[in-house]
Amino acid sequence: MKTVIVYASVHHGNTKKLVEKIAKECNVDLIDAVQQPKADLSDYDRIGFASGIYFSKFHQTILKFASENLPENKKVFMICTYGGNAAYKPLEVILKEKKTDIIGKFGCKGYDTFGPFKLVGGIAKGHPDGNDLKAAVSFVAGLQ
Ligand SMILES: Cc1cc2nc3c(=O)[nH]c(=O)nc-3n(C[C@H](O)[C@H](O)[C@H](O)COP(=O)(O)O)c2cc1C
Repeated sequence: MKTVIVYASVHHGNTKKLVEKIAKECNVDLIDAVQQPKADLSDYDRIGFASGIYFSKFHQTILKFASENLPENKKVFMICTYGGNAAYKPLEVILKEKKTDIIGKFGCKGYDTFGPFKLVGGIAKGHPDGNDLKAAVSFVAGLQ
């Protein structure tokens, strides 16, 4: 089963920490969508999209990447890190247009110093932590 995770991690590298741990423990390729906005995903059986949550959406780079590069009828999973709340819906709308089979979603807290949170030293400090990394690895290892 060939698996890739396409990610964007631009705030504190929170999502990058998760996907690099997953890549080390599970047999998955990584694509940084910020560096590489185009890719041929047709050979992959499972495709993951991962990023922080920005204004209640996955990062715009991921939404654009999915719109432009995701072939139809693929198995897809989603991974996000967030200061407050996960938000899958806007990405799911794009996935549904591509007749995607959504096989799982995973989210955990990620250190957030956006706007006023900076004044208080940020929220979700220390996340993703060791338990978050373990949970992310078991999520991917458990996907069908
Ligand atoms: C511009 C900006 C907007 C954000 N918007 C949200 C949001 O709407 N909801 C939320 O829970 N977290 C929000 N966050 C926090 C990030 O989702 C969180 O820090 C995430 O772990 C960043 O991931 P990254 O370091 O991989 O980029 C925002 C952060 C930034 C910088």
